[in-house]
Amino acid sequence: MSAFGYVIMVPKMRATLRRGPRLINTRPNQLPERATRELVGRAEALADLDDLYYGDGRRRTRHAIPVVLEIVGLPGVGKSELAVHWARRTKDHFPDGVLYAQLRGHDEPISSGLVLGRFLRGLGVRAADVPVGVAERASLFQRLVAQRRVLIVLDDAATADQLTPFLPAGSRSVVLVTSRTGVTDSARRVVLDVLDSDESVRLLAAYVGAARVEAEPQALRDLAALCGHWPLMLSLAAHCVLRRPGVPASTFVENLRSAIKPVDGRSLMDSAVWVTVDEAYRTLPDRAAALFRRLAILPSKRVSQREAALLAGVDDGDVGVLLNTLVSVSMLQRTADPAVYHLHDLLWSYARAQLDEQEPDQIPVLRRQIRRRPSERTAPTTHQAASESRTDGPGRRRPARPDDLG
Ligand SMILES: Nc1ncnc2c1ncn2[C@@H]1O[C@H](COP(=O)(O)OP(=O)(O)OP(=O)(O)O)[C@@H](O)[C@H]1O
Ligand SMILES: [Mg+2]
Repeated sequence: MSAFGYVIMVPKMRATLRRGPRLINTRPNQLPERATRELVGRAEALADLDDLYYGDGRRRTRHAIPVVLEIVGLPGVGKSELAVHWARRTKDHFPDGVLYAQLRGHDEPISSGLVLGRFLRGLGVRAADVPVGVAERASLFQRLVAQRRVLIVLDDAATADQLTPFLPAGSRSVVLVTSRTGVTDSARRVVLDVLDSDESVRLLAAYVGAARVEAEPQALRDLAALCGHWPLMLSLAAHCVLRRPGVPASTFVENLRSAIKPVDGRSLMDSAVWVTVDEAYRTLPDRAAALFRRLAILPSKRVSQREAALLAGVDDGDVGVLLNTLVSVSMLQRTADPAVYHLHDLLWSYARAQLDEQEPDQIPVLRRQIRRRPSERTAPTTHQAASESRTDGPGRRRPARPDDLG
């Protein structure tokens, strides 16, 4: 920004902070769309969250302390799925709306300035009135939230510090956190385990159809057990079965079982994960498989549509089909930003091994291509900043500011 621009902007921002910005009347719902048709099981976890929330709800009228609830569990066990489901179910209790942020604690943590920007916009602050500095954003956020009752969902936090800017002091709002290791007061945690055997079969049935389960109940039960009743693996395995309508599920289970061996120092469970991902990878069409393994070039496990096009060697317009194929078989996840996708850590490791094995010569070439486009490498944050601008409506776009970029 030029020095001249700075001189003009700062007094305006100061005035905004003094008076408070004029707000657009809005009730945000920033929850992402989930691909799952139904939430399988989790009745107990939902009831536990209700207990923690309603219990605290009664006390909150006296103390006005924000309630922080947390869902803790292994990678891919279903924390985000549960958080979004509970938030949807409970959102009517929050007349001022629901804010949601994917903090990416286990990847490249997102900057608090960017999240605060999205939250402020959600609360009705116009793009032009969003302060530039992180501290100013935080103070405006605190001021606005103090007068409201919102549900704030902070998905995938890695440390308690990551939460600090978003915890509203003395308000009637509620914060729901998910993390792999637990980052808040342990008294308000719901620890999520893998599904039980019946639930695992129901999850498989949600993908492959009840008829398939009725035809081969034992095979589907065996498959659920081979996947360790682990939701991420179950959804991958279900897609493998679905893609081979003519092959009995029992054949698939036999192949899987014979392939699972504790090799290369990996545990049996690691090996089972590996084989399940391997099976899913081998059923992909060639061009989708090539894109999948090449995603491992990106260290951040976040991929923009443009980066994907570059890696796949196709036009931006054509890469959507390949990305949709990967999403439809659970090998890639959508994020709140429609132009950015997320690759799970476990799948990233597999993709990297495939890339090393199948296209070692391409690795430096692809790396150079990605590096040659420096603006693309900031994709996770610039895309989100761009999508912030997009929601301003026509004529209200603003350029990304320095702290939007991390
Ligand atoms: N109860 C469930 N019913 C149906 N599908 C589920 C359920 N739990 C998880 N899944 C599916 O399993 C996959 C992994 O779930 P999710 O992304 O919620 O895991 P996570 O615990 O948040 O993982 P991470 O630690 O990597 O963020 C997703 O595809 C999700 O749709
Ligand atoms: Mg998650």
